[in-house]
Amino acid sequence: MLDMTRLPQHVAIIMDGNGRWAKKRGIPRLAGHNAGMEAMKEIVRRSSDLGIKYLTVYAFSTENWKRSWEEVSGIFKLLIKFVDLDLDELNEKNVKVRVMGDYQAIPEAARKSMDETLETTKDNTGLQFCIALNYGSRAEITRAVNVLAEKVRAGEIEGEITEEMIARYLYTGEENGNVPDPDVIIRTSGEERLSNFMLWQSAYSEFVFTDVLWPDFTPEVYEKTLEEFQARDRRFGGRK
Ligand code: IPE
Ligand code: IPE
Ligand code: MG
Repeated sequence: MLDMTRLPQHVAIIMDGNGRWAKKRGIPRLAGHNAGMEAMKEIVRRSSDLGIKYLTVYAFSTENWKRSWEEVSGIFKLLIKFVDLDLDELNEKNVKVRVMGDYQAIPEAARKSMDETLETTKDNTGLQFCIALNYGSRAEITRAVNVLAEKVRAGEIEGEITEEMIARYLYTGEENGNVPDPDVIIRTSGEERLSNFMLWQSAYSEFVFTDVLWPDFTPEVYEKTLEEFQARDRRFGGRK
């Protein structure tokens, strides 16, 4: 049973396996992505109902541009459909949507939809739902280092660069209200790697890997993975 008194504050999910899910059924990859969006919706709902404070999902990586344009543009279209159709429910549930990644580079229609969603949900105080879109953690760290280098050059920083300074200029930093590090990172589909996701922030995250393909990741499976997280002994380098 899930212990409601010990829920993670921040859950991050690498939503993987849409393509294999579709292949198993002999249907187009995009149908898999569509099913994946539906699964995502359910997980947002359940996270909000459970009272989780932060949910981050990896929706599109800086490396995913290597895929066919048909697939890439299809993924962005599905995202527009999700944010447009579900805006009312997101608001009803007091969900605040955020984006992290090189957002300027995504197709304009998707950016417009997202902008509207960010604006409409900006005062909500419930679940903070963060979509990693055209996100890559190396690019994120590089960007922060460049911001700091510029500040040093301008004489705004004297002395050493600290961990806090680097963290401040990551996507999870001040531009998104200082998101705490993820307590748990879940990856579906049996792959056990980060694929350039939250390299800095995952220093002490617990990892839960499941063979379930993302479109099959139901709220029930979600709760099981949270139970697995709760069974872990987190020491953060100390003794217990
Ligand atoms: C995850 O599913 C969604 C994205 C990366 C956009 P995949 O599309 O990677 O599915 P598989 O890994 O090919 O099964
Ligand atoms: C990671 O999945 C990116 C997202 C889930 C958005 P990929 O399917 O792109 O990762 P690799 O290629 O298997 O490492
Ligand atoms: Mg994949």
